[in-house]
Amino acid sequence: MERKHVPHRAGILVYGVAAFASIGGFLFGYDQGVMSGIIVMPYWTTYFNNPNDVMTGFIVSIYLLGAFVGGLFAGPVSERIGRKRSIQLASIVFTLGSALQAGATSTQMLLGGRFVQGLGIGMYSMNVPVYQSELSPPHLRGRFVALQQLSIVTGIMIAFWLGYGCSFIQSDASWRLPLALQILPSVLLFFGMFFLPYSPRWLCDKNRNEEALQTLARLHAEGDVEDPYVVQEYNEIVAYVKFERENAVRTYRDLFSKQNRRRVMLAVGIQSMQQWTGINAGNFFSPLIFKGAGLDGTASQLLATGLNGVVSVIATIPAVMFIDRWGRVKTLLVGGTGMGVTMLLAGALLGAYPHTDAGPNNLGAQYFAIVMMYFFTICFSSSWGPCGWIYPAEIFPNRARAKGTGLSTAANYLMNFVIGEITPIMLSRITFWTYIFFCLTNFACVIILYFFYPETRGLSLEQVRLSTMNDKKD
Ligand code: GLC
Repeated sequence: MERKHVPHRAGILVYGVAAFASIGGFLFGYDQGVMSGIIVMPYWTTYFNNPNDVMTGFIVSIYLLGAFVGGLFAGPVSERIGRKRSIQLASIVFTLGSALQAGATSTQMLLGGRFVQGLGIGMYSMNVPVYQSELSPPHLRGRFVALQQLSIVTGIMIAFWLGYGCSFIQSDASWRLPLALQILPSVLLFFGMFFLPYSPRWLCDKNRNEEALQTLARLHAEGDVEDPYVVQEYNEIVAYVKFERENAVRTYRDLFSKQNRRRVMLAVGIQSMQQWTGINAGNFFSPLIFKGAGLDGTASQLLATGLNGVVSVIATIPAVMFIDRWGRVKTLLVGGTGMGVTMLLAGALLGAYPHTDAGPNNLGAQYFAIVMMYFFTICFSSSWGPCGWIYPAEIFPNRARAKGTGLSTAANYLMNFVIGEITPIMLSRITFWTYIFFCLTNFACVIILYFFYPETRGLSLEQVRLSTMNDKKD
């Protein structure tokens, strides 16, 4: 018996709760985008004594090291205190980190603040999707993962536009304000969570079964505890919790058992490749990239960056709506090929018509290169953006999912850190070859995907399990 829809009022409630919790994803996105505008602001560079490429990359991406650490510890904490309280804890840590950054009086303080904020981000991004999926009726789960990606790109977009707006302020507030403003959603999330329910699955795990049943009924059936779907879901959760207690993957080492090894490689691989597409080279350093492509003046670079944010939000929407109809691997192959081609064209054009301080020597070629970058964003947002998160969530059996996705998310952060670190160095030292480099990484991803990744769409979790296990390498 499979539920196809929830009653109207319950639907509003469950979407509302999921949307509110996704402020966590929004804040991750905000932080992905916020530094891109700040590092080109004159007041920022002067305040921090013109940091060189290596230091700029480090300031931008150190929060991902924090997220890496926060994400690995978030799992055990979440089992103990629950998703709801963990999200609140993440808000406290995040707010502390943001305050340190906004009030930074030295590079060390800025770096420390970014690291602490990253710890909060790591906790958010482990807990929010888990909380959302544990609250959602089964038929909406895929969509909720895609919604998480939508909230990330919305955060990036808002950060880009705030960066643009704040660039007109003629004081240190131009960079302090965008860093301080992120405190507001995080405080809102902290207080709002008091009114949101505990995850039913966690409640069952803590033997608070009555509360779990009532929460499910409220979210999926307007409070009717005898609704047959609710009763079925409740029974499944109870059985699942029991099974997990007996069979759960307890340590990260257990993940590398014979049955799981290949899945771990697939999940870690896809999240790492998602970063090597180069998407965050754009998110972190868009204004620098647009500058290299011939846009003079901070304001026009930030405006082009803001548009890039809008493009990525719009291009994510079809994915949210139709992702369950598209084959994962096919979508990734098409998106990856598209990104490789756009990078090739942008690189070739900027190589043939380099921008000099004396002004552009071929305006048409440079605008075409900029258009290519927007196409790159469209390709990513409708494919690797959501699928990079969905694929790992689909391939693990229940008992290994939390740890498995924890590990693959950690890989995402680590690779994201590397990209943040190397991009400014590449942009200033090898200029247009940076695009050729990302063209090659995209084609490499496509080849790896084609040869090693099984399709998961439309298969039940059990079938996905079999199809990944049947492989000889397992
Ligand atoms: C994905 C990536 C993230 C990126 C975002 C938006 O969520 O994991 O690193 O910033 O897409 O482009």
